[in-house]
Amino acid sequence: MFFRKRSKKTIDKDAVAARLQHIAFIMDGNGRWAKAHGLPREGGHKVGATVFEKITRHCFDRGIRVVTVYAFSTENWSRPQKEVDAIMALLSDYLDYAEKKFKDYDARLVILGDKSRLSAELQEKIDRIERASADRGHVLNIALNYGARNELVSACNELIRAGKSTVTEADISDALYTRGCPDPDLVVRTGGDVRISNFLLWQSAYAEFYFTKTLWPDLSTDEVDRAIYDFCGRHRRFGGL
Ligand code: FPP
Repeated sequence: MFFRKRSKKTIDKDAVAARLQHIAFIMDGNGRWAKAHGLPREGGHKVGATVFEKITRHCFDRGIRVVTVYAFSTENWSRPQKEVDAIMALLSDYLDYAEKKFKDYDARLVILGDKSRLSAELQEKIDRIERASADRGHVLNIALNYGARNELVSACNELIRAGKSTVTEADISDALYTRGCPDPDLVVRTGGDVRISNFLLWQSAYAEFYFTKTLWPDLSTDEVDRAIYDFCGRHRRFGGL
């Protein structure tokens, strides 16, 4: 019983923690939300960043140890410069918040992706926060300049450089940006599309998926609870019976 009968708010944290260690979000729909509200696309990302902060904290409160979000893909650089700049500015603001607040909820920051294309200022901030938060219990992975195929290619190159002539699944897992992190149990995608968009391809081999038409800025903690509840009721077979 994950939700006690009287109120959803008394969701059983230990029961969730036992089944759902890692939740990942494809945060889609900011642009459409902005259009529907008569705003420029950047306005959707701004609200999206607030929702991202709220949902992350909510997942930690529910007993989930690892949260991953897809914030910026390797393909997103092709968007108009104004939009790219707005997303980077939101990230920078969020990192300032993380630097002050992450200690309060025992959270560690990990950036998944190739950081070399980010501004020097952003890279410095990230390095500082990643180092300072390295020993904390919860993990927030932000996929930034991330693409799963690119991640697999760089993992293969790392293994070649290390002199490997054959590799195991464990070798590949240990060479990915997510090294040391459990695979996602549940991947939630907002915005109505039913696809994976080059996100955590290796790590999601046995993940469960929750697709919703809700646009990311409209995603509520109640809907996240419904996704968690739905997940906890599923029978995972991992290829067995
Ligand atoms: C996809 O929606 C969303 C993005 C490419 C950016 C996500 C960014 C945020 C939620 C804000 C910043 C993030 C952090 C971590 C502070 P879309 O723009 O493709 O939406 P559409 O499909 O409706 O056009």
